[in-house]
Amino acid sequence: MAEITPEQLLQLEEKQEKKEYNKENPSAVTLTNQIVASLAILWTKLHQYHWYVKGPHFITLHEKFEELYDGVTNWYDDIAETLLAMGAKPFSTTAKNVKYSLVKENEADKYRTSDVMVANVVKDFRTLSDAASKAIELAEEDNEVVLADVLTGFKAFLDKEIWMLQAFLGKDAKDGVE
Ligand SMILES: [Fe+2]
Repeated sequence: MAEITPEQLLQLEEKQEKKEYNKENPSAVTLTNQIVASLAILWTKLHQYHWYVKGPHFITLHEKFEELYDGVTNWYDDIAETLLAMGAKPFSTTAKNVKYSLVKENEADKYRTSDVMVANVVKDFRTLSDAASKAIELAEEDNEVVLADVLTGFKAFLDKEIWMLQAFLGKDAKDGVE
């Protein structure tokens, strides 16, 4: 019997992927994998803000965005490896990350004011915090306690940063939440 090639393996996987990621109701794994894809995009986006931020808060924000992309790097790897330990397959290419990310990047963002950049990070972190809440719920239903635990740590990281970034903007942690 001929051996299955990597290309054939990928074809099988993508057939399955189409079914799983078209569902209205995501699973703990698919939603967590979308968080992984989002973190890869956020890593690039936070570099964009780190490099292009301007104004009187340059030093503070330049450093803060660096701290945030470092945090994102750690969670990206931690969460992806938790999926691997469960026998799942985290996305591992830029194309898949762009396709499945819950947050979007924008080349024009480099021209935005520092306050808009901070507000955008809050918005993206809230998107991921909400996704993490939902994924934790799903993981608990599936008795995936380690995944639920890792995502709880991730959500705590996001929520704390949201509070600090909101404070920087002169707002309370939950201001602007619909
Ligand atoms: Fe730098």
